[in-house]
Amino acid sequence: MNKQIALVTGASSGTGRHIAIALAQDGCDVAILGRRSQELEETARQITQAGARVLILNADLRDEAAVKQAMASLLEWSGQRVDILVNAAGIPGPLGDPIGELGVEDFDSVMSTNLRGPFLTMSYLLPVMCRHGRGRVINIGGTHGMRGRAGRASYATSKWALRGLTRSAALEVGEYGVTANLIAPGPIAVDRMRKRWAAQALDQGVSEDVILERYIADMGTALKRPNETGDIVEMVRFLAGEGGRNITGQELVVDGGVIV
Ligand SMILES: NC(=O)c1ccc[n+]([C@@H]2O[C@H](COP(=O)([O-])OP(=O)(O)OC[C@H]3O[C@@H](n4cnc5c(N)ncnc54)[C@H](OP(=O)(O)O)[C@@H]3O)[C@@H](O)[C@H]2O)c1
Repeated sequence: MNKQIALVTGASSGTGRHIAIALAQDGCDVAILGRRSQELEETARQITQAGARVLILNADLRDEAAVKQAMASLLEWSGQRVDILVNAAGIPGPLGDPIGELGVEDFDSVMSTNLRGPFLTMSYLLPVMCRHGRGRVINIGGTHGMRGRAGRASYATSKWALRGLTRSAALEVGEYGVTANLIAPGPIAVDRMRKRWAAQALDQGVSEDVILERYIADMGTALKRPNETGDIVEMVRFLAGEGGRNITGQELVVDGGVIV
């Protein structure tokens, strides 16, 4: 992937940060988008350390004008080219609220981050990729968008709809050599999740390993191991690399074997 240009949204933390750094290690110059400046600076530091060029795009994906401005800055920086777009930004929204109690503002916020955000970046960058005759779009969905989930209606709806957006894009841009796929991770052991498990361990007076074992048993994970950010990173590498050249319109579940 030497000297390809990648944009990774949600690169200020979690999975997006790991994806951005991995693409830099693979030789890409990487633009990173998010709202928290300090966290973006840290990702940028690690990208620079990997020997790649980096562009920080501080923007709120819910704000159309801000995204438009960010995409203009990106194209100026890259010389009007983007080879890889990874839409990793996302929020879980309210946890446990049934639909009757789910506030419309919360619902809208999840939809505009998880669905309208990827729509906006794709609407600006797909034409650029098509003109260039090459491109890889990788949207990060989630297994909650494969089967629905009580108490997670806004999140599940947004991730489910992202599949429709991805498949439609694949059909629209395939003839120009552009692919669009979605990775559907099960719960990933990001810092945010590890903090939750640590708090539960303290609460229940058991070790974090015990909490993790229970969690894996509850999930019914075939492989009996948690989903690590590295598992998602490797799938991104595959789809963005030579292995992914004839794969499009697909949803790749990375969850250790829950949805089987
Ligand atoms: N963690 C899991 O268990 C899990 C499971 C399945 C799928 N996923 C999906 O995987 C992706 C990454 O999740 P994660 O848990 O690894 O990450 P995370 O640490 O929660 O980070 C989320 C990222 O999204 C960005 N973001 C959120 N709202 C934004 C907005 N309005 N505008 C711009 N950026 C925004 C955040 O940046 P700022 O805060 O700086 O804006 C941050 O970089 C998400 O799409 C998530 O839905 C996660």
